[in-house]
Amino acid sequence: MASNDSIKKTLTVAVTLCVVCSVIVSTAAVMLRPMQQENKALDFKRNILIAANLMEEGKSVDELFEKVETRLVDLRTGKFSDDLNTDSYDQRKAIKNPELSQSLSAEDDVAGLSRRENYAMVYIVRGGSGIEKIVLPIRGYGLWSTLWGFIALEDDFNTVVGLGYYEHGETPGLGGEVDNPKWKSIWEGKTVYNNQGDVALAVVKGAVDPSSSGSEYKVDGLSGATLTSDGVTNMIHFWLGENGYATFLENLKNGEA
Ligand SMILES: Cc1cc2nc3c(=O)[nH]c(=O)nc-3n(C[C@H](O)[C@H](O)[C@H](O)COP(=O)(O)O)c2cc1C
Repeated sequence: MASNDSIKKTLTVAVTLCVVCSVIVSTAAVMLRPMQQENKALDFKRNILIAANLMEEGKSVDELFEKVETRLVDLRTGKFSDDLNTDSYDQRKAIKNPELSQSLSAEDDVAGLSRRENYAMVYIVRGGSGIEKIVLPIRGYGLWSTLWGFIALEDDFNTVVGLGYYEHGETPGLGGEVDNPKWKSIWEGKTVYNNQGDVALAVVKGAVDPSSSGSEYKVDGLSGATLTSDGVTNMIHFWLGENGYATFLENLKNGEA
């Protein structure tokens, strides 16, 4: 009788185990993919609702998201557009498509994006007298990663309702503190544009004295994470500036979007 210690038997057991395990892992990966995509989409919506301060205890994300209207904006003209279907438009894929995006010069690219898509999806909450809140997607480079998130503005298109990220790779406890609800709450009520119409909102080093001049434009820096904090400032300046939503927000103010 052949010994169980033979090389042939050892190899047979090892190979069989590898094949069985890889089949189990790949089957699980394939079967779980639709669930993961569904959860990702739900998390995306949840973050839009959080930025707009619309989360309510006891109500589902889908139920609350019914209040939100998704529209496409042509960033080149600053106007709403029906050129593409919002159900099928993939803004992330569009960034890499030369027909749907444009490259940015080094001078314009303050947020480290390389390219900017021509069309952006925006999320609108309407009230009795028109737009009540608008949620704008933003992204930009921090220290280790691109941070993907939203900034929500009130109906003056200048006062911040909220800011948050749904994806980033910054260090937990340092740059990862962008997810800290306490830090996120500081953004509420801050002002984006100064009297000259320039983007003045910025994350500054240290804590902001609320009685100091210009404090409405300043957000406390993340301690030990100045590079991520600067990344947040840069993306605010890019996306609310002339290569981002500035023209669109101006058109909205004038009723011309
Ligand atoms: C392992 C490690 C991870 C770090 N992660 C971050 C980070 O996510 N964001 C960040 O801005 N700085 C991070 N830093 C710190 C930066 O290198 C840099 O020192 C810091 O941004 C300076 O901020 P400060 O002037 O507030 O200390 C990390 C440092 C180390 C050693």
